Amino acid sequence: MKVSQSFLCAASLAGISVCFSTTASATYCVGINAVRPQCKTQESAYYRDVFFLGGQYIPSGTSFIMSDQLYVEKLTPLNGVDKPYPLVFISAGIPSGSVWLNTPDNRKGWATYFLDQGYQVYIIDITANGRSGQEDLSKYPLRIGSTVSIHEDGFTAPEIVNPFPQSQGHNQWPGNGTKGDPIFDAFFAATVPLTSNKTALELSMRAGGCYLLGLIGESYLIAHSNGASYSALMSDECPDLVRATLNLEPGNIPFQSLIGNSTTPAVGRTTARPWGLTETPLTYDPPVTNVTTDLVTVEVGVDTPALRSCFIQSNTTGGGIHTLPQIAKVPYVMFTASASPHITYDHCFISYLSQAGVTDVTWIKFGDLGLEGNGHFFFLEVNNMELVKVVEAEIEKRS
Ligand SMILES: *[C@@H]1O[C@H](CO)[C@@H](O)[C@H](O)[C@H]1NC(C)=O
Ligand SMILES: *[C@@H]1O[C@H](CO)[C@@H](O)[C@H](O)[C@H]1NC(C)=O
Ligand SMILES: *[C@@H]1O[C@H](CO)[C@@H](O)[C@H](O)[C@H]1NC(C)=O
Ligand SMILES: *[C@@H]1O[C@H](CO)[C@@H](O)[C@H](O)[C@H]1NC(C)=O
Ligand SMILES: *[C@@H]1O[C@H](CO)[C@@H](O)[C@H](O)[C@H]1NC(C)=O
Repeated sequence: MKVSQSFLCAASLAGISVCFSTTASATYCVGINAVRPQCKTQESAYYRDVFFLGGQYIPSGTSFIMSDQLYVEKLTPLNGVDKPYPLVFISAGIPSGSVWLNTPDNRKGWATYFLDQGYQVYIIDITANGRSGQEDLSKYPLRIGSTVSIHEDGFTAPEIVNPFPQSQGHNQWPGNGTKGDPIFDAFFAATVPLTSNKTALELSMRAGGCYLLGLIGESYLIAHSNGASYSALMSDECPDLVRATLNLEPGNIPFQSLIGNSTTPAVGRTTARPWGLTETPLTYDPPVTNVTTDLVTVEVGVDTPALRSCFIQSNTTGGGIHTLPQIAKVPYVMFTASASPHITYDHCFISYLSQAGVTDVTWIKFGDLGLEGNGHFFFLEVNNMELVKVVEAEIEKRS
């Protein structure tokens, strides 16, 4: 094969790190440069089938469009499946489902790891995101998924702005984690728009997610960040089809959104998710008909930058504690990294779930296992193959 070297320098693409010296070019495979044929793949071989599931025709002018369909990639190990239950990977939608494949620095991702272990793997793009893009823009208006500062300060280089004390331990991101670094650039380039209509998103994920599970059978859900809103909705809607939820730093903090330092409330804390774990209705017992009057919350704990206060249900107003009987049927496993903002507030899930009668809850802090220095996208970081074994052990234990 004849390989031309002359086309390789793309320095004219301002701000994007695809420029490299022609002498180094044959081996320069960092970030998006690895797209070049000369760069050897680190991935494994597997079979791939693609589906769009759970959509419905809706009238549009004199014809129809399709709405609410879910993009599903079915990945099958080359040597066949030898594990009893499939894995379904759910991203928050800031990167689409592609985030589970090769990492931004072109190492194996978690989907590939599990394929190598003989699992049937499904990757979805959440509805109205990525390849699940919706044409019905009146129902699914789009918003920007993320910005460079959200990525740098929250995910890839929190140690620079120090929004919480534990950020100083962050050292597992490959590269320097900021704009201009080729690995950061490759990561950030995967950012796609999200819908601003969380109601439509949650309703379609609840329906589409359980439609998928109805077809593939009882499965493990591996959900990252706000993807855990959808693992909660699927647990509520079709608990018998969810073997367990593996929640990687769940983003659906009960009743609140928290970022950065608690000492700046306007920046650090906003009210969110009136149904506790979701924007849309969950099954409570006794039933909740009006979240304002029935799900009354109280703040518990002292709010500090290293350990945030939480919101749980009041046991004196709103008719007492309402439990989550459907969600309680599904084992809930949560994983938290030592240098992520989540180390300051993931205990709020434990307080809320325990109060709401969800008893099969396991919380794994990677730091307690000597796996230190990770941020919110730990499954892409340098030690991702050590971390994945911890998640795999929790799956094996329940299989
Ligand atoms: C957050 O608080 C820490 C002290 O814990 C302080 O050093 C840091 O500057 C604060 N960061 C921001 C972004 O306010
Ligand atoms: C990160 O690396 C890039 C590329 O070398 C450089 O432009 C940028 O200044 C570095 N950022 C920091 C904070 O060191
Ligand atoms: C959001 O979605 C809901 C449910 O599909 C729909 O009723 C509502 O009109 C949508 N709102 C906006 C602002 O698009
Ligand atoms: C819920 O209760 C509040 C307070 O009584 C009331 O203002 C609101 O209209 C009620 N919402 C619904 C949907 O009934
Ligand atoms: C009621 O909730 C408060 C926290 O708001 C807690 O301190 C107290 O122990 C609870 N009481 C009961 C009976 O659960």
